[in-house]
This record gives sequence, structure tokens and C-alpha cells, in this order.
Amino acid sequence: MLPPASALLEWYDRHRRALPWREALRDPYRIWLSEVMLQQTTVAAVTPRWRRFLERFPTVQALAAAPWPEVAEEWAGLGYYARARNLHACAQAVAARGGFPDTVEGLRALPGIGAYTAAAVGAIAFDRPVVPLDGNVERVTSRVEAVQEPLPGARPRLAALAQGWMAQAAAVARPADFVQALFDLGATICTPRKPACGICPWQGGCAGQRAGIAESLPRKVAKRARPVKAGIHFLLVDAQNRILLRRRPPSGLLGGMLGLPGTPWREAAWSIPEALEHAPALLPWQALPGEARHGFTHFELRMTLLAAAAPPGLNAEGEWLTAEAAALALPGAMQRLMVLAEPVLSQGLAERPAPVASRRRRAPLLGDAE
Ligand code: ADE
Repeated sequence: MLPPASALLEWYDRHRRALPWREALRDPYRIWLSEVMLQQTTVAAVTPRWRRFLERFPTVQALAAAPWPEVAEEWAGLGYYARARNLHACAQAVAARGGFPDTVEGLRALPGIGAYTAAAVGAIAFDRPVVPLDGNVERVTSRVEAVQEPLPGARPRLAALAQGWMAQAAAVARPADFVQALFDLGATICTPRKPACGICPWQGGCAGQRAGIAESLPRKVAKRARPVKAGIHFLLVDAQNRILLRRRPPSGLLGGMLGLPGTPWREAAWSIPEALEHAPALLPWQALPGEARHGFTHFELRMTLLAAAAPPGLNAEGEWLTAEAAALALPGAMQRLMVLAEPVLSQGLAERPAPVASRRRRAPLLGDAE
């Protein structure tokens, strides 16, 4: 049975969440930005960052014209840095063509816009009758239609079923609201655990609830455990208590973002002498206590830190930033390392360092040219 779009829309008119991008007068730039941010974190975390981003880059033209380091700094801490690079490239394409295209196909053709974002912006900003399949919509659809096939294989079927709901007259008349009503239903009533079926506007038409299996849906293929990778990073502190940071290569993890210099990340543990081959200078490095952990999509990273004082005039490749400036510019993984660095930055290095070793290979020394 087709769940009635009208019942969901009536519920939405009374219970919709007051989200700032909903008051954005259908500005596709603001809606696109909210959708890109919402793909990586929660509504609560996105709201202040979305406002701050728009204060700094109020229009798509302003974002397009901004130098990359400013965009990277504004994105710091939001994760998935390839998305920030795509966001910047997309803004430049939109500015060059004079505005956002208003069809799903046109949006999909922009750099960095995938099927989900094209459908979400198409529906919410331009009232195109398409249903973007996010986690909320997957959950609602699998329950209402009692789809027992596990994710991710069930995705095309769920997308087709949800799209089928959009064919109803009430939904077609209000596509933007219908889509956002599905998001809100998934976020507030049809929640992953303990769904509030008793107050659901679709309770009469939910096959999952009738079968008593709603809460167990959607089923998911068991995930394999993520591998663990290790890295050793270097905290080089100068006489003004600034630290040496390097911009990472544009592609790859944390691409284009600033970071503490370090070894590559790999599954085998690093020995200290091996790690010192990657040190930014030949100095007496001290191991700091503790380990920083950061979860990436495909692996868990464990990082440790070696610290050294930079002698005056040291010629090391990179940029020197204060801890305050670094806190603003660094991505989340590197901010976790900065927690280990904090005692050194607030109290200095120990009086009599117990150096772990010096690098054997020749490294840039005082006054060396790069
Ligand atoms: N999740 C993804 N997009 C959303 C939106 N526009 N509103 C609320 N939740 C969302």
C-alpha cells in the first residue's frame, strides 16, 4: 500500500524542524552547502559551521574567488577534505556559468556533485520531484515497505520505492517539503533505535511495523573490522613557540590541508630510527607520551609525536604557525595530535631532553638551502 503523502505533509506542517537552511529562501547556494555539510556530520554540528561559512563566503561567487587555503581553513574539523576541494571546484564552475543549473541532470554534471547532492538540491531548491536517498530515507523506506534485503545491496530497490512515493499528487505538488518531511520523519520518529511508531503519521501504512520488524530494519551486511594504521609525526617548535606545519599533497587523505610533518601511515608499526628518516630536520627528537587516534572511513589511525626545539635560523620546509592559528587551520586528525603537543606548547620541552635518536641521513641543517 502506498503510504499517503498528504498525511506526511500535514505532519510536516505541524512538526517540521526549524533548520536555518530552511529559512534560506530557496537559495541554491545555501541549500547546496547545507547538503554537503550534512553528508558528514549531524544537524547540530552543521548549524554553527554553516552560518560561519556563509559569513565568510556569503555567495557562490565569493567562495569561487577565495584562495584555497582560506576554504581549507574554514572547512577544518569538518572532515572529508576531498569534499571541501570539490566544493571549491564546484563553486568555481557555478560562478563561471552564472548560477546553479535548476535540473537534477544539470546539477549532476557539476564537478563534485554526486547523485545524492544533485537530487537533494534539485528537490529542495528547485522543487524537482526526486527523492534523494540518505540514511534517513533508507531507514524509513526499508521499514514502510518491509524490505529485508540488506544494505548496501538493497539501495537501488529502496531508491525506486521512495521515488515511487513521489508520484502521488500531494508529493508532486510539494516536492521540496515532501523530501524534507522524509528527512524529519527519519530523524525524529523513525529513528534507528526505539522508533516512535505510536505517533508516526504513516503508522497505518507501515508494513515493517505490522510485521513487528520495523526496529530491526534496515538490515546491513556485517562490516569487516577496519584495519589499524600507524604514523609518527614531528612537533618542531621555534623560539616564538610556533610550530612547523606542511601542506599535504592535493590528492589523498587530508589532501590540501595543513598537517604536522610525519611518516606515511601504514599497517606495520614504525621504529623510531625508521621514522626519523621522515623528520623535517636532524635534531635531538624527544618522544612525547600518549597516542592520538582518529577514525577514517577505511582505517583507524594511531599517531605518536616526537618533539624538538628548532634552533634559530633552521631552514625547514613548511609554514610556521602559532598554536592558536594551527587550531583553526588543522583538520580533526591533526587536532588530536595537538592534544599530545599541548604540554610542550604550554611548558616548553623538558629541561634535559632524553633524545630518542638523531636521524642518520643528512638532513637540512642550519642555513641549508632547500
Ligand atoms: N539531512 C540531509 N539533508 C537534510 C536537510 N536538508 N534537512 C534535514 N536533514 C537533512
